[in-house]
Amino acid sequence: MTLRRPTNLAAYQSVLLANINRPQSHTRAVYESTGGYRGLRRALGNLSPRDLLQMVRTSGLRGRGGAGFPTGLKWSFLPEDHPGPIYFCVNADESEPGTFVNRVQLELDPHQVLEGIILSCYATRATTAYIYLRYEYPLAMRRMQAAIDECYAAGYLGKNILGAEFSLDVYIHRGAAAYVCGEETGLIESLEGRRAWPRIKPPFPAVEGLFRKPTVVNNVETLACVKQIVDRGVEWFRSIGTLPDPANPRDPGSFGPKLFGLSGHVNRPGCYEAPLGISCRQLIDEFGGGVWKGRKAKAVVPGGLSTGVMTAAELDLPLDFAGPLRAGCLGLGTACAIVLDETYPMIDFLQNSCRFFAHESCGQCTPCREGTHWALAMVDRIKAGRGRLKDLDLLLEIGDSIGIIPGTTICGLADGAAWPIKTTIRKFREELEDYIKGTNPQGYMETEPVERMVGEMI
Ligand SMILES: Cc1cc2nc3c(=O)[nH]c(=O)nc-3n(C[C@H](O)[C@H](O)[C@H](O)COP(=O)(O)O)c2cc1C
Ligand code: SF4
Repeated sequence: MTLRRPTNLAAYQSVLLANINRPQSHTRAVYESTGGYRGLRRALGNLSPRDLLQMVRTSGLRGRGGAGFPTGLKWSFLPEDHPGPIYFCVNADESEPGTFVNRVQLELDPHQVLEGIILSCYATRATTAYIYLRYEYPLAMRRMQAAIDECYAAGYLGKNILGAEFSLDVYIHRGAAAYVCGEETGLIESLEGRRAWPRIKPPFPAVEGLFRKPTVVNNVETLACVKQIVDRGVEWFRSIGTLPDPANPRDPGSFGPKLFGLSGHVNRPGCYEAPLGISCRQLIDEFGGGVWKGRKAKAVVPGGLSTGVMTAAELDLPLDFAGPLRAGCLGLGTACAIVLDETYPMIDFLQNSCRFFAHESCGQCTPCREGTHWALAMVDRIKAGRGRLKDLDLLLEIGDSIGIIPGTTICGLADGAAWPIKTTIRKFREELEDYIKGTNPQGYMETEPVERMVGEMI
C-alpha cells in the first residue's frame, strides 16, 4: 500500500504558473508587482549560503529534469572552501520528445526562473551561471536576455548583489540542437565548444565539470521550485505531493508542485500545474478534457518518450517519482505525458521511437550506436511487412542490453532508447504479433538463421 496524500485538484493553488496569464508577465515590473525578488532580498539579508542549501535539502526537492535526484544533496557534493570558481549550468535544452514545460516558464515567466537561478547560485557559491537554452526556442532566448538585462539594471545581477558579498554573472548559450546536449556532461562539453559527447563518470560535475571546475547542473523547473521554497517555506513544500513509497526503500518521497505536459490524442493538450502524485487519468480527464474523438486511451507515455509506455489499466498510478516505476517504466522523467488512443498502431509508436533514438545516439558507445540502429532496422522491416515473430525477442534482447542500468553505456540516452522498446513489446506483444502475422502471412525468413538476415537488414 502506498501512503498517498489526497490530492484535491480543485483546491490546489498554482504557484509555478500563477503569473503566466497576466499581460506582460515576462517583464520585471509585472513580476515585482506580484512579490517577485522579495525572497531574494530576504535570503541575501538573513540566510547564509549554507542555510539556504540546508533549506533546499530538507524540503526534499528532487530535480525536475528527468532523473529526480535530490537537489540539496547534489549541491552538497560541491567541495567545501573551493578556492577557484564554481559554475552553475541551467539545463534549458528541453529536447525530450513530448516535453515543453520549461519553454512555458522561460517565455512567460523568465524572472521566476532567474530568481531561482540567483538564489541557487548564492547557495552553491557559484559566481557564473550559463543558461544552456534549446536552440529552437528563439522567443525564450529574447525574453530571457531581456530579463537578464533588467536584472543587471536593478542590481539583482552583477557585483555585490543588493549590497551583499555575492556577485553573479549570467549568460545565455544557445544549444547545438541535438538531444544528447541535454545530458549534463554532454551539455558541459558543448558549452566548452566541443561536440556534445557525454563524459564518463566519475568524476561527476560537482567535482570536475565545466572547464574542469566544480559545477552544478539543474533543470529550469527545479530552479523555479527553489524560488518557491524560499518564498513559501519548507513546510509548505513538503505539504504537497506524496510520501515515500513503503514498497520502495530507496524512494525518499515526491514533494512539491509539478508541471505536467500533455500531448497526443487528448482534447486539450497543454502545460498544467498540479501536486506531484496526481494520476495519469486525472491529468488526461481533468486537465486534458479526456481522450479525443470520444475514444479510449490504449497507451500513455508518462514522462517523455524515454520512460516507455503505460497501458490503460495502469493510468491510476500516481505521477510521482515512484509511480511509473511500478508500471515497469523508466521513471517519472519529465512528467510530460503523450496519449495514444485505441486506434493507434503500436508498431508505429515503436518505429517513431526507434527512429528518434537511432538518429540522436552520439555514437561513442558501441551498444548504443549499433543497438539503436539494429533496432530501427528490424522495426522498419517489421513495419514493411517482412517481420518475424522472433524479431520481438531479438528487440527485447537489444533493449535489455543497452544503457547505464545494464551497465554498458556512458549515458542514459541508451536507457531511454531501450524502455519504449521493452515496455511496448512486453505490454502489447499480442498486437505486434498479429501485425507480423497479418503482414507476413508466408512467414518470410521465419525459419532462417539470424545470420541470413544481416544482408536483408542493411
Ligand atoms: C539523453 C539525455 C538528455 C537529457 N536532456 C535533458 C534536458 O533537456 N533537460 C534537463 O533538464 N535534463 C536533461 N537530462 C538530464 C540531465 O542529464 C540532468 O540529470 C539534469 O539536467 C539535472 O537537473 P535536475 O537535477 O534539476 O533534474 C537529460 C539526460 C539524458 C541522458
Ligand atoms: S549512450 Fe549513446 S548517446 Fe550516450 S554517450 Fe553512449 S553512444 Fe552517446
